Amino acid sequence: MFAPILRSIMIVAKNLTDFNEARSAFDGKIIGFVPTMGALHEGHASLIRKAVAECDAVVVSDFVNPTQFNNQNDFNTYPRTLDQDCAFVEQLGVDIVFAPGVGDVYPQGGDFDKKVFDLGGLDEYGEGPRRPGHFNGMAQIVTRLFDIVRPGKAYFGEKDFQQLAIIEYFTRALNYPIEIVRCPIARAEDGLALSSRNELLTPEQRAVAPHIYKCISKAVDMVGNISVAETIKRVTEAIDSEKLLRTEYVEIINSLTLQPITHWEQAEHIRLSCAVYADPVRLIDNIKLK
Ligand code: PAF
Repeated sequence: MFAPILRSIMIVAKNLTDFNEARSAFDGKIIGFVPTMGALHEGHASLIRKAVAECDAVVVSDFVNPTQFNNQNDFNTYPRTLDQDCAFVEQLGVDIVFAPGVGDVYPQGGDFDKKVFDLGGLDEYGEGPRRPGHFNGMAQIVTRLFDIVRPGKAYFGEKDFQQLAIIEYFTRALNYPIEIVRCPIARAEDGLALSSRNELLTPEQRAVAPHIYKCISKAVDMVGNISVAETIKRVTEAIDSEKLLRTEYVEIINSLTLQPITHWEQAEHIRLSCAVYADPVRLIDNIKLK
């Protein structure tokens, strides 16, 4: 005889009052938290499965955060699929979906949140200068959600490598008693890093998008054999050789400080990160080199 696994019925809380009531059923339990902006896919599912396996209860937030978009068109066109998302996570064993309104997370209203965060300088490279205000807006929503959800563990994917490093930094700096769990990049069978933005690609763009991963993977064999600058040049040219793709940047960085390096000996842990346009969609990816 095996004992059936009893799970609670999933609650969809669309405001703070409903969330707090649903959350109170799990007081004293380890809550696993997976923050998302919705348009959920297998990448999110991999974080959720890990959270379900490791925690007593799992909360998924589904909120397209206006303060982290530096491009209004990107915010307007970001896919919003709440009903579909709820059906998707229910079968994964999620206990609460928190899909708040803007007023629930930014009660000060007006021009949203004005809080400015110390991000330890980790926002000075990569996505930081290219998306002004993005990481501060991300810190605003993540800390607000941490305050509301009060998780024991929070799960983030390495596709947003810089975001993850910044979240680890402010979680420590602000003394949140939360374990940040790093999860590997989930990829489609053809190598494309899973992202909600992939839904915005045309079929032609989707067909060539795996080229990005193919090109950045080749950099692994270049480490120590050719210079850092030459590696960046070859990877950039290889990506741009596909006419539907346009590289915004390729950087080779110290995985801990996120600072770009110029020589392989400069860091023990090294990563390559990039942003590439399949116009107007902007895709990011990264790979561990060392
Ligand atoms: O990675 C994301 O989807 C978002 O940046 C996050 C962490 C949910 C905050 O809005």
